[in-house]
Amino acid sequence: MNAEPNYLNANLKFSPNAIPSGKLAWRSPSNIALVKYWGKKSVQIPQNPSISFTLSKSFSETEVSYSPAVSGKSEVEFYFDGKRNLLFEEKTAGFFDGLSSIFPFVNQLKFEIHSKNTFPHSAGIASSASGMSVLAMVLCDMERQLFGTLQEEADFRRKASYIARLGSGSASRSVFGGLVIWGEAEDVSGTSDYYGFPVNEGVHEMFADYQDTILLVDAGEKKVSSSLGHGLMNGNPFAADRFHQAHGNLTALLQAMRSGDTEAFIRISESEALTLHAMMMTSQPYFLLMKPNTLQIIERIFAFREKTGLPVSFTLDAGPNVHMLFPTTIKEDVKRFIDNDLLSFLSPKGYIEDEVGKGPEKIL
Ligand code: DP6
Repeated sequence: MNAEPNYLNANLKFSPNAIPSGKLAWRSPSNIALVKYWGKKSVQIPQNPSISFTLSKSFSETEVSYSPAVSGKSEVEFYFDGKRNLLFEEKTAGFFDGLSSIFPFVNQLKFEIHSKNTFPHSAGIASSASGMSVLAMVLCDMERQLFGTLQEEADFRRKASYIARLGSGSASRSVFGGLVIWGEAEDVSGTSDYYGFPVNEGVHEMFADYQDTILLVDAGEKKVSSSLGHGLMNGNPFAADRFHQAHGNLTALLQAMRSGDTEAFIRISESEALTLHAMMMTSQPYFLLMKPNTLQIIERIFAFREKTGLPVSFTLDAGPNVHMLFPTTIKEDVKRFIDNDLLSFLSPKGYIEDEVGKGPEKIL
């Protein structure tokens, strides 16, 4: 069991007459889980370990200007896509307030935050992973620049992942590139319930640039918040078995990815996606997030795989969109398949061709 790092640090505070001003910006990607995090304990501790691919093209880009606060507590002004966004403002202010013993300096500053996502707004793509991880990168970068701490890259990333987790569990995985585990996995040393841990070493090279084409089935807003869904696992009659199953699936999936066993990769990751939705369907209240077109697409993926023998598979997050996963070598075949057979099931926003990426990047 990896102990919780102690990040409480009263020294990370400016003397009252030396509160600085400045600006910095980061970009941080979304990720797609293969073994799902669904169910948590307080505070932001997962009920089971999860593993995901960090994406490349679906990211949040956030510029933060800071200056001395006038009120003596942190002040946040949040602009999304150029417009003031009070919902994000409230969320971010709450997140910063919760961090006041880890980063006492946030209480001394006024933040003006400008953020945008590369993926279409309201496309049903979860933005908390990219949105919260980018804020975590910014705060840790401020600590590094202004206090001279976190000079070691590993320390910097670990703390950023810890902070991102407090904002949104899945965000802890976006702090690293490639394949990332969050949550203590029995046979993978270095994993922790408190932060993400990259596990790219020894994984078959085909997964280094694996493709994730996100088929946008329904461009509406998400109907069920993740927090509510996680909460419902507390009363789900299958919860204990599910949490246990996730451990075995993670071990088997990682093994398959190390040996390049695409058949096992497909079997486990598709089963994980359907199990996630089965958990939603067996909670009280129950909810159904797949749409008829989600099933149409899944059926066609099965048929295409059967006919061609190509290793195309799907996963889902807590919504109706389908993530199609496949190796780069068959990109052209898959594109033809989508254009010929799947377009009629998609919303006008179409699809996003994403792939495994390297993680957050500092841009200012
Ligand atoms: C279905 O990370 O969005 O995407 O910690 O409450 O912010 P909070 O939840 P969140 O949950 C993600 C759930 C999921 C599966 C996953 O990404 O592992």
